[in-house]
Amino acid sequence: RNPARTTGAGSEPVALPTGRAPGCPFDPPPELDRLRTAEPLTRMAYFDGHVGWLVTNHATARAVLADPRFSNRPDVKHTVFATVPRPGGARQPAAPGWFINMDPPDHTRYRRMLTGRFTVHRMRRLEPRIAAITADRLDAMERAGTSTDLVSAFALPIPSLVICELLGVPYSDHTLFEEQSSVMVDLESTEQQTMAALGTLTDYLAGLVRRTRTAPGDDLLGGLVAEGELSDEELTNIALILLVAGHETTANMLALGTFALLRHPRQLAAFRADDALAANAVEELLRYLSILHLGAPTRAALEDVELDGRLVRKGETVMVSLPAVNRDPDMFPDSADLRLDRTGARRHLAFGHGVHQCLGQQLARVEMRIAYRALFERFPGLRLAVPAAEVPLRETSAVYGVRRLPVTWAAPS
Ligand code: HEM
Repeated sequence: RNPARTTGAGSEPVALPTGRAPGCPFDPPPELDRLRTAEPLTRMAYFDGHVGWLVTNHATARAVLADPRFSNRPDVKHTVFATVPRPGGARQPAAPGWFINMDPPDHTRYRRMLTGRFTVHRMRRLEPRIAAITADRLDAMERAGTSTDLVSAFALPIPSLVICELLGVPYSDHTLFEEQSSVMVDLESTEQQTMAALGTLTDYLAGLVRRTRTAPGDDLLGGLVAEGELSDEELTNIALILLVAGHETTANMLALGTFALLRHPRQLAAFRADDALAANAVEELLRYLSILHLGAPTRAALEDVELDGRLVRKGETVMVSLPAVNRDPDMFPDSADLRLDRTGARRHLAFGHGVHQCLGQQLARVEMRIAYRALFERFPGLRLAVPAAEVPLRETSAVYGVRRLPVTWAAPS
């Protein structure tokens, strides 16, 4: 069945505009701007062929994400992509502990157990440790010469080391979980590859949970084990979610954010001149870059819902385009400009909104604030070592970013 002819709504459903604007690795595809202006809630043909909706404006996105009539459960949601990396697969109820795909009250039970472990206060206490991890990576870069790939030397190891310590996962296994999680979020992975990656990570973390039961450490997993409320399967799935979400996202923000700062020298100069700008700069980079650019957040209507003057029918899927929403000029004047001192930058939805709003956002903020500052303090002359157009991009990954970022801090010859 050709989805382009099944709407009955007059206009043809659009395909999700993917990738970034031609010639600019930071700007969303221009088609998203056009949709936001013409029809911010529009019919969209999903990759698996079914027809649902796409939201491209800030106000409607907030309305959907705050509305309990829109569900995140896999058994009521269409498969948005060919493969869905979660235990049980598509159209099955969420596996025990897989709280990202639950609705309240099931979701609330897990969030209650976890939210207190990720508060602003708790994350502040981690700052000295994150600063030490960052300094170690900078020392290693300095020792190794005057150029490097910033992704493998800096952007990936910092959040990986931090989430490992926080959870109680041995960092010596980082190659295993970094590789598998990258397969899981790449939409070009086949279903077989995705499920194999999920299986490998599940087996690995199930082993870790068993070891933690016999000797619980002073970390998040040890703490949850000690509370005695969760089964091994629940703990394994929670650990998997936190491990993947905890390193993949922040790593891409660190590398892509550095790339963006290097391409905006005036903004970078302001950033370096004023310590107090760092917190707002992080919000503006989150807004400007919107690294979760494909597929999330997506919800399904549990009943007929009137939204933005249209009728979203029970069972229909609604995807929010974060790159479109975070460039909505009604919320962010001159939204295409990167302005590190922008008033209201924090209104971005890069961490989502509503009950599923990012659990790790305070951690991500602290990591970014510390890492960007320390990087440019240590290497004031940091610059790209290749032309910008040659930096390889993660266009097919649900988490956008750069695959490598060749940089140098040698004095220009
Ligand atoms: C949820 C973005 C870092 C853990 C989310 C959502 C977004 C997001 C947009 C909502 C998805 C939805 O509503 O469907 C980001 C970005 C990050 C980041 C841009 C980095 C810059 C982290 C970190 C952790 C984390 C460091 C580690 C603990 C989670 C979890 C959820 C989540 C567990 C699911 C929450 C729930 O369903 O209740 N994130 N995230 N994230 N994030 Fe993050």
